[in-house]
Amino acid sequence: MVLNNELKIKGNLILAPMQNFSELPFIKSYNKFFPYLKRAFTPYMATSSFKFKKPQNIKDYFIKDNEKLNITPQILSKSSQDFISLCNILQDNGCHTVNINFGCPYEKIVKKGRGAGMLRDLDFMKKFLDEIFSHCRVNLSLKIRSGVSNEEEIYSLINLINNYDFIEVIYHPRTAKQLYKGKANRELFFEAESLSKNKLIYNGDILNTGDYQELILSGYKLDKELMIGRGIFKDLFLTYKLKGVQHSQQEKKEIFNDFYMELKKEWRERLKKEKFFLSIMKSYFYYMSNNFINSSKLFSSLSVSNDMDSFDSLVWQAELK
Ligand SMILES: Cc1cc2nc3c(=O)[nH]c(=O)nc-3n(C[C@H](O)[C@H](O)[C@H](O)COP(=O)(O)O)c2cc1C
Repeated sequence: MVLNNELKIKGNLILAPMQNFSELPFIKSYNKFFPYLKRAFTPYMATSSFKFKKPQNIKDYFIKDNEKLNITPQILSKSSQDFISLCNILQDNGCHTVNINFGCPYEKIVKKGRGAGMLRDLDFMKKFLDEIFSHCRVNLSLKIRSGVSNEEEIYSLINLINNYDFIEVIYHPRTAKQLYKGKANRELFFEAESLSKNKLIYNGDILNTGDYQELILSGYKLDKELMIGRGIFKDLFLTYKLKGVQHSQQEKKEIFNDFYMELKKEWRERLKKEKFFLSIMKSYFYYMSNNFINSSKLFSSLSVSNDMDSFDSLVWQAELK
């Protein structure tokens, strides 16, 4: 559906953190051809993973050229000491705001008390937040879910985080137990927003202009920022559509082709081995196939491609919706 003038988004559109998806090569190539994404979050960097303690793996995001991409790195940790150390490295590399992941729902992570696992023990969370707020010099941003297994957990969570001055709190209103099933609970978002002293940003299930219109009609302000994840990959033109910009099929094809070439170029520079390169392109099309007619058939054919030439020829032949 085409949005009428009064409903066009006025706030910033933010790309959600997504492992393997919201990586620098995507952020750079998307921004080049889809100009309405104003911010992007990196997938989480786990402090338990040594590679993120090495500045060379981080500085790429914050070199001068990438300043306009407005990238916020996300950290997953339950150790305040490790969090502070990684924050310092990020800051030394030019980063001003860091996002805390209290939302990752995967059992392996939650069991270890990280991600949404932090929501299980609010006393522990309080100690963690006290520590990082007294030692981190960057702005702190937070990403949360409603709770571990019960939506009612959101009330005590909001109560606790009201004691801290976050630059923003991104709220995906699902419990960890739900993973990505069911629907994000928009009513609960608005309830939490009315109780929150921090700025709450909505995230969850905005897949098309109809979903966005529903959110606005339920009371979300047009000038508020909005975080979108899967919707941007499933419909690359969603950011244009939310701004009321339409394209002909021919224009869409040209924009997609340029973007796809750029995405490959960016990843090729990082992944020299064909096997890894092909594998990452396949993972993008888990969502991006949805941009095309006969998307599941296209995805199945792409998944069994053995080389980039056959992969490319399937992509070039596919017809955009
Ligand atoms: C493949 C995948 C990877 C994700 N990785 C992260 C992550 O690294 N950090 C995080 O906070 N959320 C992560 N998420 C959750 C998204 O940021 C977002 O909260 C969720 O997808 C709901 O928003 P959406 O409906 O707009 O996609 C991930 C989600 C998916 C589907």
